[in-house]
Amino acid sequence: MSIVQVRVPGKVNLALCVGETDAQGYHELGTVFQAVSLCDDITVSRLPQGEFRLSVTGEGSAFLPIDDTNLALRAAKLLANRYQVTDAGVAITIRKRIPVAGGMAGGSADAAGTLLACSALWAVNASREELRDLAAELGSDVPFLLLGGTAIGTGRGEKLSPVPASGVYHWVFAMAHGGLSTPAVFREFDRTTAAQPTTLPEGLISALVAGDVVDVGSRLVNHLQSAAIRLQPALQRTLILGQRLGALGAIISGSGPTAAFLFDDEEEANRVARELTVFSGVRSVRVVQGPVAGAQIVA
Ligand code: C5P
Repeated sequence: MSIVQVRVPGKVNLALCVGETDAQGYHELGTVFQAVSLCDDITVSRLPQGEFRLSVTGEGSAFLPIDDTNLALRAAKLLANRYQVTDAGVAITIRKRIPVAGGMAGGSADAAGTLLACSALWAVNASREELRDLAAELGSDVPFLLLGGTAIGTGRGEKLSPVPASGVYHWVFAMAHGGLSTPAVFREFDRTTAAQPTTLPEGLISALVAGDVVDVGSRLVNHLQSAAIRLQPALQRTLILGQRLGALGAIISGSGPTAAFLFDDEEEANRVARELTVFSGVRSVRVVQGPVAGAQIVA
């Protein structure tokens, strides 16, 4: 293959329960991920051996590094090294829609998509499970973006167990001005919060399996939310506004600052999205659905 295109989703955490830290400073998590239809597109093509290039367009691309600190380039190089791809070289182009530093795992998604795309480009004989192990080396959220759907994450978030969720989950994502650094939000959490149990909210998984979106909406939880709000106080008003406008659930996505609002009806989601657009605390608004597949080769 000379060119491979991959589509990869962003995620929202329906539950994000944060426990004790391990020796490396990572927190034990009990989380429920859902992949949503806000996707980045990744195109890879062959370059001569040893040449690795990255270009990024779209949402937030001006803020992204295109050197070796970018997780997508690190993903390509990790795959090439681990599988001893002798003639490895690649041009990676990413069309971004997932917000940068928004709490929707945009960087992790690009790493997951690049792993899948380069494994096809270089005809690397790696199973999905082997790719998932490489993904876990790159970051705690990366394995989930390969898997997609709805899944429980434990450990650092990389140990996954799929949830057979039913129903359609309509989400309105309100993107904030500026981003939040995930380590900074965890530091603020550590500074202000005692370690808590990582037990998932009672009834959340059964509500997901039943496809009871109203019930799911009432059980959303994010232990990082208060820390994110302390770092960006305007987020509190965005959440309250979405609740008042009729969201079934309102939560900060991951470490923020994107606010996520849940609906069981697309028209209702569109109506609230239009109302949120005019709020000064919100940079832009997207209406999407979950769950969707993980990283997939589309061409
Ligand atoms: O795993 P990843 O590199 O995406 O994590 C980014 C940062 O988020 C880590 O450096 C750490 O500060 C924080 N983190 C954490 N515990 C986790 C996952 C992430 O403290 N389970």
